[in-house]
Amino acid sequence: MSFSKLKKVELHLHLEGAAPPAFIRSLAKEKNMSIDGVFDENGAYSYTDFWDFLKVYEAATACLKTPEDYARLTSAVLENCAEHGVVYAETFLAPDFCGGGDVVAWREYLHAMQEAADKAEKDSGIILRGIPTVVRHFGPDAAKKSAKCAVETAGDWVVGFGMGGDEKFGTPSDFAYAFDMAREAGLKITSHAGEWSGPEEIRATIQDLKAVRIGHGVRAIEDAALVREIVEKDIVLEVCPGSNVALGVYADWASHPIQKLRDAGVKVTVSTDDPPFFHTTMTDEYEMLSRTFGWDDDTFRALNIGAAEAAFCTDATRAQILKKLEA
Ligand code: HPA
Ligand code: ZN
Repeated sequence: MSFSKLKKVELHLHLEGAAPPAFIRSLAKEKNMSIDGVFDENGAYSYTDFWDFLKVYEAATACLKTPEDYARLTSAVLENCAEHGVVYAETFLAPDFCGGGDVVAWREYLHAMQEAADKAEKDSGIILRGIPTVVRHFGPDAAKKSAKCAVETAGDWVVGFGMGGDEKFGTPSDFAYAFDMAREAGLKITSHAGEWSGPEEIRATIQDLKAVRIGHGVRAIEDAALVREIVEKDIVLEVCPGSNVALGVYADWASHPIQKLRDAGVKVTVSTDDPPFFHTTMTDEYEMLSRTFGWDDDTFRALNIGAAEAAFCTDATRAQILKKLEA
């Protein structure tokens, strides 16, 4: 079976990070904006390490200036996801990039993205939900504004609250106020941790932000007691192996701990993170998991049912996803 046809659930996807390079280039041209340093001579996103990646990411994102731009982006990204068999995706959306943390502007961006997502669902059946996300290195005050945006729009479509950006900036507790606001509004919590920092960062994220999912979390493997805690607390890891290998968190696929985490009883899921930046797709991730660790159709079926169970959507939507996975 070709892995592109296999029905998949993707829980860790940054919308801007999924922008096809040609899409960003055409936006830049339309708006007469410089994108020097964003692409290499082959037209691929170009960066030297994670911190440079964040800079290039923000430079590319600067071309997205209006709700209409985000609507077009949403359509392009969902078309790609559907081509790779994704039936349900959750995407990180930073209010900082969508109206600068202003609630009125954020609502306009959100409305445009939801309209584009509704159309994609009618066309291909793919379901999208949004997770407003703090950009960690923008600091705790910006995080509170993002939380306000998330709280004001929490519901069936805005289902969670998260944090990405530079994991080395500050501590999780610096952001606890924003996460408390979001959680009290019924939003489920995920945060990037244990990609660049070690086990202590994951512990603090569980304790101080009350995260029920962890973005990456792979460095938990360095601490057996933490692995046990993750299993006992039923915390789900949003693992993005291709991203980790592309950024050099692990030297190659064979050194990636996803199999060891799974063997230890950790609920792992598989996503692409920022697919064109990391030269990956969901199909590529599955092919490499199959090739490296021998994962077969049964493994992938269990993986996707687990991801559906960990999705932040309503139970009615979850039932829809499970039905799509069976089809
Ligand atoms: N990691 C952390 N922060 C991010 C990423 C990522 O892959 N993409 C956009 N913000
Ligand atoms: Zn990420």
